[in-house]
Parts: sequence; C-alpha cells; structure tokens
Amino acid sequence: MFDLKPYLKAKQRTINAALKKLWDDREPYPSPLVQAMRYSIGAGGKRLRPVLCIAASEATGGAEADVMPAALALELIHTYSLIHDDLPAMDDDDLRRGKPSCHKAFNEATAILAGDALLTAAFELLAAAGRQQPADASKWLEVIYLISRASGCSGMVEGQMMDLCSEGKMITLEELDCLQQLKTGALIEASVHAGALLGGGSFQQIAALSAYGRHIGLAFQVADDILNIEGSSEVLGKPVGSDRGRQKATGPSLMGLEQAKARAGELLDSALEQLEIFGKKAEPLAAVARYILERNR
Ligand code: IPE
Ligand code: IPE
Ligand code: MG
Ligand code: MG
Repeated sequence: MFDLKPYLKAKQRTINAALKKLWDDREPYPSPLVQAMRYSIGAGGKRLRPVLCIAASEATGGAEADVMPAALALELIHTYSLIHDDLPAMDDDDLRRGKPSCHKAFNEATAILAGDALLTAAFELLAAAGRQQPADASKWLEVIYLISRASGCSGMVEGQMMDLCSEGKMITLEELDCLQQLKTGALIEASVHAGALLGGGSFQQIAALSAYGRHIGLAFQVADDILNIEGSSEVLGKPVGSDRGRQKATGPSLMGLEQAKARAGELLDSALEQLEIFGKKAEPLAAVARYILERNR
C-alpha cells in the first residue's frame, strides 16, 4: 500500500526550499511589500497544488525539476488568492495558516499589493521558464494559457465573485457546483493539467488527468466547507464556523452535512476511475485524492 505521508513530506520539503529562495536576494532589507509576500508564502500551507502538479507530471513520466516553475507559480497564485480572500472586504478572516492574516500582520494596502505582486510573480516565473527552455517554449506558453484561464474571470476570480454574491442567498445545487468549480476547482484542475502537459503525457493521459483534477478540485471545496463546520481552528490554522456566520452558500448549508459528505465520496470515486489507465504510476495521485476527503487541515 502506497504511503502518502513520506511522499508528501519529501515533496513539501523540495517545494518549500524553492519557495524560500524567491526574493532571498532582497535580504537583509526586504521592502515591506516583499516582507508581506514572504510572510504569507512562508506561513505554511499544505502545498497541495504544487504537489499535484509534480505528481501528475511523474504519472506521465516527467521529472520533478522540469515542472518546478509551474509548481511554484501555482502556489504563488493560490497564496495571493488566500491573502485577498481574507481581506475585510471579502471574508474578513484574521487567521490564516495558523498565523495572523496578511492584512493583520501588515495592513490592508500592503496585503492587497502583496497579493497583486504574487500573482504577477507567478507569470514571471512561467514566462522565464519558457525563455530558458526555447525548445519547450510552446509547452510553457500553453501552461501560461491554462493557468491564466483558471485564475481569472474564467476561473478563480469569477468564482470568488459568485461566492460573495451568494452570501445570504439560496442558490441551486447546479449554481453551487459552478461557483465551487470556478473558485477552487479550476486552479486545482489546472495544477494537474499543467503537470501532465509538462510531463509529456499523451492526449489521452492529459484528458484523463484533467478530469481527475476536475473531480478532486470540486471535492476539495466540498471538504473545506465540511471542515468549516466539523474541523478545529487550531489544526486548520483558520477560523471555523465562519461560513455560517457570513451565510455562505456551501454544500452543508444547501444540502446538509450528510449529503455533502456523500457528494464528496462520489467525486472521489469519479476521480479514481480516471487513474485506472496509469496503473502504479498514479498511486500518489490516488492517495492525494483520498487525503483531500480525509484531511483534518
Ligand atoms: C484553502 O486552500 C482555500 C481553498 C481553496 C478551499 P488550502 O486548504 O489548500 O490552503 P493551504 O494552502 O493548505 O493553506
Ligand atoms: C477560498 O475559499 C477560495 C479561494 C481563495 C479562491 P474559502 O473562503 O471558502 O476558503 P477558506 O475557508 O477561507 O480557506
Ligand atoms: Mg472565501
Ligand atoms: Mg475564506
């Protein structure tokens, strides 16, 4: 049986070491902007999107080092989205990754700018990878395209808008699926898709892994909403009970906790089906999919 714990630990160590190097040339006198960027990146986090990118690449025969710029870029975009998500104008949460949220540790203006700069830095990293590997430039261009689509008004930012507009409203389950697919699912799907593409996957492999990413991306948000009810703030490193406080449209609020759990289970099964063609090579991806539902943080 594949043991996810050491696998995750090893990947997280590599990813964290590479993240730590970003902007280290600004030490010992980083600007307040760079301090805030490094604060939120360094605060922790599961690094699930970079891990998924690397694992998808490995499932298609690629190597970790080859996808690292994409893995890092995904984490920068994700961290920016968390900084902005916590702002008073959005979810107004003071705790993130077990530490004061960026706008609490610094101030609102700095948090907005740190988010802006992390988003921009992500695309700088991706473009730099394309420049450095002219033979693979078209692959990197495709990765830039799919990650930008997943991040903006065809993906995460539109999902965040829908999330805010749905506060205090009854929406249909189809609308909820769409909201969650955009706000969280899109970037997770893009993480897997980018890894599969850079790893040199065939058309069939890329399609299967993208579908896997779509299912676990949605399952991830369903699980996040369940944890907001059943989780512990100390373990999660962020507030619990806040969705209810803000009358967020979530799986549990619209269909009840048990139904939401059943939905997550169905999504997991659909995700695992997509991995069958990969055999043992997809063991880490299968384990990550299970972890997404079983996690307590
Ligand atoms: C939290 O994401 C926000 C959602 C998209 C649900 P993660 O649970 O991946 O957060 P970190 O990176 O581990 O802090
Ligand atoms: C966060 O969603 C999604 C993004 C930042 C795109 P939530 O607001 O539900 O996540 P948490 O619970 O604050 O991490
Ligand atoms: Mg939110
Ligand atoms: Mg939030």
